[in-house]
Amino acid sequence: MSFPKTRLRRLRKNPILQKMVTETTISLDDLIMPLFVCSGSKVKKPIGSMPGNYQMSVDNIVDECKQLVDKGIKAVLLFGIPAHKDETGMVATSDDAIVQQAIKAVKKEISDIFLIADICNCEYTTHGHCGTIVNGDVDNDLTLETLALQALSFARAGVDMVAPSDMMDGRVGRIRLALDDHGFSYLPIMSYSAKYASAFYGPFREAAESAPKFGNRSSYQMNPANSDEAMREIALDIEEGADIIMVKPALSYLDVIRRAKDEFNIPIAAYNVSGEFSMVKAAAEKGWIDEKRIVREILTSIKRAGSDIILTYHARDMAEWL
Ligand code: PBG
Repeated sequence: MSFPKTRLRRLRKNPILQKMVTETTISLDDLIMPLFVCSGSKVKKPIGSMPGNYQMSVDNIVDECKQLVDKGIKAVLLFGIPAHKDETGMVATSDDAIVQQAIKAVKKEISDIFLIADICNCEYTTHGHCGTIVNGDVDNDLTLETLALQALSFARAGVDMVAPSDMMDGRVGRIRLALDDHGFSYLPIMSYSAKYASAFYGPFREAAESAPKFGNRSSYQMNPANSDEAMREIALDIEEGADIIMVKPALSYLDVIRRAKDEFNIPIAAYNVSGEFSMVKAAAEKGWIDEKRIVREILTSIKRAGSDIILTYHARDMAEWL
């Protein structure tokens, strides 16, 4: 069927009809807001490279979570900035570590929130790498043990889901085993399955104080040039017990999200990362773009690509705009 019998503009003329045939919609139910918790009290320290985001002490995290839930953002991802770091990230495995304190405090005060904890060592190690260093590189199997301990401690604190972001081989399986062995069989794992070694994480590393002191993460995070390999990563994570898989970053990897959606039958999350967020904020501050429209378009594109869930620093603003 072709022109003039078919006129695609016909469906665009009436706004009510146009809405009816809209294929992709963003709901606050799909969004996860990342937050950064630090030690101290009454701390709310602006993160320069991520306007509108803060390092917050536990008391302020609780307040922030209350406000988010009131606005309709019910899922939060917690990152920790500890007072002290160590060589292997063991500081993060203690039951009174910073994220665990936040989990307990938030859960005590707020009943209808879904709390997710990021599992990784980079915020907790003195060298800023995601695991235990042996001969100048992160040792995979040693790191699995610290990750499993971190997961268990988050579970004991009452977290609703854990999200390993370290990119060690076998970590989903190791964490699943630890959780199952300790009575947490129903705690879901959202795995950062296809996480790329990306320059888009730049602002986050200021936020989480987690930049590597030497080298980079390319011996464990993925090469941005590869998408076949992403499918292998995802397949392995599903086999190991991941409940949700994630592609990260989002915008430069929409093709990977779409491939994952087509190849696997599992919920997909995408992380609209710090660099993607900060570029929008910077251009908006300069008055070069219409922030509201751009953010809507970006989040819609990530969903259209096939993502069910979006982790985004725009979540708070979206709650105001939707
Ligand atoms: C920790 C982690 C990172 C991000 C999420 N978890 C940083 C990194 O891998 O260097 C990035 C998030 C963002 O840029 O918004 N491994």
